[in-house]
Parts: sequence; structure tokens; C-alpha cells
Amino acid sequence: GAPIEVDLTPIAEGQDIKVFWRGKPIYISHRTKKQIDEARKVPVASLPDPQSDEARVKPGHDQWLVVVGICTHLGCIPIAHEGAYDGFFCPCHGSVYDTSGRIRQGPAPSNLAVPPYTFVSDTKIQIG
Ligand code: FES
Repeated sequence: GAPIEVDLTPIAEGQDIKVFWRGKPIYISHRTKKQIDEARKVPVASLPDPQSDEARVKPGHDQWLVVVGICTHLGCIPIAHEGAYDGFFCPCHGSVYDTSGRIRQGPAPSNLAVPPYTFVSDTKIQIG
């Protein structure tokens, strides 16, 4: 599949969009300061799949979370802005992901994957 470019300007703070890349749903979330703070105050070692929020976003673009919207349990598509951690909720078997797309509760073994992407400008990314 070819890389895709996504214009971020229509995505308001606190909202997200879903695009498709190589047939996979990709969530792009414009996080609020509160959502970023929530992701960063958690002790990384306490997480089921320990990964810092800083390692999951691009430096200088902390407000943007880009993740593959496929639950790491059995592949359902989680719902954005649902669940106890204000991140993603998978309705199939109840996995709950946080505002960094990290698994916090439920049967999923690992965090939502971060696809390869780069910022081509402050308001545009290329996925792939
Ligand atoms: Fe998401 Fe099972 S597929 S919790």
C-alpha cells in the first residue's frame, strides 16, 4: 500500500478521526492537555505493556496520537473516547486503552500499535 497524507487542521482539540491505511483503521486523536497529562502521570512500570507516552508520539507534537485501531486481543475495532481511561474501549471483550492507546484493563496483551508516520508539516502527516 502507498503512503497516505492526512491534513490535521479539521480535527478539533478533543476529537479524533479514523482513516484507512493498507486496509487498516488508523485513529488520529487531537489530545487535550488533560488527556496528555493523564497519559504522562502514570508510572510506566505499572503498565501491562510498559511504554512511555513520549515514546508513542512525535517530539514537539505531543497533542497528536496516531494508532492502529485494531484491538491487540482478537482484532476488533475499539471505540474512541470510551472507557474508564478516556481512551479507547473494545466492545468485544472489554479491553480498555488509555489516552496513549496503552492497554490498561481487559484481555488485550499489548498496546495499540503506532503505525509508521512522519510530520510533513505542522498540520499534515504522512502514514506509511
Ligand atoms: Fe478487543 Fe477481545 S478483541 S477485547
